[in-house]
Amino acid sequence: MRSRYAGLEQYNEAILSVTPGAEYLWRTVATLVHRNYQFGENVVELGPGEDHSTEAVLIRIAAHMGSGRLKLIDISQKMLARCKRRLGEQGKHARFVCRDAARYLTLRNPASFVVIYSAWTAHNFTEAYRQNLWPLIASRLMHGGALVLMDKVYPGDAREAGRLFKLQMDRYAEFLAPEVYREIHLHEVEDYGPDYRLEEMSLRNELQKHFSEVRVVDRVERELIIVCKK
Ligand SMILES: C[S@@+](CC[C@H](N)C(=O)[O-])C[C@H]1O[C@@H](n2cnc3c(N)ncnc32)[C@H](O)[C@@H]1O
Repeated sequence: MRSRYAGLEQYNEAILSVTPGAEYLWRTVATLVHRNYQFGENVVELGPGEDHSTEAVLIRIAAHMGSGRLKLIDISQKMLARCKRRLGEQGKHARFVCRDAARYLTLRNPASFVVIYSAWTAHNFTEAYRQNLWPLIASRLMHGGALVLMDKVYPGDAREAGRLFKLQMDRYAEFLAPEVYREIHLHEVEDYGPDYRLEEMSLRNELQKHFSEVRVVDRVERELIIVCKK
């Protein structure tokens, strides 16, 4: 499976620089990962990209991991290489695996992780992919384990969804170079369409089928942080 994000990899930093709350969201995801972590247990990140979410997590848990490694699963070799480079010394606490997220989890033994987390990756998945992924994640979490998910999730109200979409497109137009704007706009239009759009209530319903507790813990405009407990 090819990543939908491949064409945007070169512009990742520029796009993140005009994404409201990015630093806050990564730090909050990392705090939640830390809160759900237990000494020596396994943690996996799906779609670490260039490392921003990863670095925030490692700062909090590396000292408690013993000889364990944070598993970083990304479908893009290029993104993983950048992640490794940026992590530098911290990279010794991580294992870099270039693989599709669902495929990686399919190959794992059951119930091996205490936390699975993912930031700005799930919106690249179709509904069919997600319907396969959520139960896989649930089956790979230990009892009491947690999925910490951060992503672009639109409200059900069409006017509000449209307002948030336009707000962000206007930001991109204002602050990004024309060629970057063109690429991210195309991607965002597809994300907003029927094949990829994450909508809050539908997403909650998808997750509630597989987790005992699903809670939206924070939001910044379109971005939601959701914690699901097994
Ligand atoms: C927008 S980046 C997010 C990076 C980072 N987590 C952050 O918060 O900035 C999405 C990442 O998900 C990866 N990705 C997309 N589809 C994937 C899949 N099926 N399995 C694993 N990784 C995937 C992409 O290669 C990319 O690195």
